[in-house]
This record gives sequence, C-alpha cells and structure tokens, in this order.
Amino acid sequence: MKPSKTSKQWMREHINDPFVQRAQKDGYRSRAAYKLLEIDERDHLLKPGMVVVDLGATPGGWSQVAATKVGRSGKVIGLDLLPLDPLAGVDFIQGDFREESVLKQLEALLENRPVGLVISDMAPNISGIPSADQARAMYLAELAMEFAVAHLTPEGSFLVKVFQGEGFETYLHQLRSSFRKVVSRKPKASRDRSSEVYLLASGKLE
Ligand SMILES: C[S@@+](CC[C@H](N)C(=O)[O-])C[C@H]1O[C@@H](n2cnc3c(N)ncnc32)[C@H](O)[C@@H]1O
Repeated sequence: MKPSKTSKQWMREHINDPFVQRAQKDGYRSRAAYKLLEIDERDHLLKPGMVVVDLGATPGGWSQVAATKVGRSGKVIGLDLLPLDPLAGVDFIQGDFREESVLKQLEALLENRPVGLVISDMAPNISGIPSADQARAMYLAELAMEFAVAHLTPEGSFLVKVFQGEGFETYLHQLRSSFRKVVSRKPKASRDRSSEVYLLASGKLE
C-alpha cells in the first residue's frame, strides 16, 4: 500500500524532530522522556528510594527516567495495554487500566508500599471522532486520579496528561478538591499544536 500524505508527513516530522534525535543519542525509548525530565528538573518529583507508578508506560521513556532517579533502593511499577521490553528496576503489568482485575494486579504488586509519585501519560488510540477521543482520554485521567488519591502518601505527587477540551475544567476542579496544590506544565517536548497539558497535583487533602 502506498503511504498516505499524512503518514509521509508524520514520518518526515518524526525524523527531523530534535527530541527524537536526542532520544536516540541518549538511549531513551521515547521523546516523551524529555517531558518528564523537564518537569522533574523544575518540580523535583523523583527522589532516591521512592516507589513510582507509571500508568501508560510503553515504550518506556518515563519509566527509564524514573528508574534512574529512584535508584536501586526505589521501585518503578509500569502498566500499559501494550507490552514493554524489560527495563532494569521496572516491574511491569500488561493490561487495561480500565479493568478492575488489572487494578487489583497493580495493587497486589504494590504490597501496600507507600507510593511517592503516580505519573500517567495514558492516551487512548485516536478514533478520529474528537468528542469520543476526548471522553476516553478524560476517563483514563479520572481513573488515574482515583488511583493516586487512594495510594499516594500525604507528601506524594500526581502528574497526569490531560487534553484541553470538553471535561477539562471539571477535571481540574476535581483535582483541586483532592489536592492542595495543582499546577499545569507544558514541557518543550510537548508539541505546540497538541492540546495536551500536564497537571501536577501535590498535598493530598484528607
Ligand atoms: C503517549 S504513550 C506513553 C509514553 C510513555 N510515557 C513513554 O515515556 O514512553 C501512551 C500509552 O498509554 C497507553 N494506554 C492507553 N490506554 C490505556 C489503558 N486503558 N490502559 C493502559 N494503558 C493505556 C497506550 O498503550 C500507550 O502506550
């Protein structure tokens, strides 16, 4: 099949993307690694010894960054619909986070260890129907928030990708009623034309 104009354009953009080139040079599995690195540089989220849960972990850029920063005394647990090639310091569950049984697997793996940071870069496959895609994305973000509220330590933080659009303001409001501080971050590796933004919440309210 002949590649479409949009897939050729995507490939050209991908090859010329400076973050893709940097990721290849630095050994990161995705350009997304630089989003977490930039946010962490500013907000100092990742600390040695910490337990981190990475939702939507594949291909593994964020998990790589997290595993390096938490070190051998820490632990990263990644979860994704898609498989993840093994990464040192990362335990992985392949499954759909919307399923109760997958949540239970994650909880079992945690063994009641206090979670210092929940990061969610989950994004659904794009169907091309904007309202449906937005609703699916918001649902994943809501599930991630519920998980963070249930498992974070009082000092823990929650970083989540959301897309501006229908449901965004309501989500922000919910996040603000569960955490003392909520800020938004748009790292340089996040494309300008993308409506994605990262919300960082800390200071869980009882
Ligand atoms: C943008 S990618 C994550 C990139 C990753 N942070 C990195 O640094 O390499 C989004 C991921 O969310 C995952 N995802 C989407 N829906 C999911 C679901 N219901 N449960 C688990 N993972 C999901 C996708 O499979 C995809 O790998």
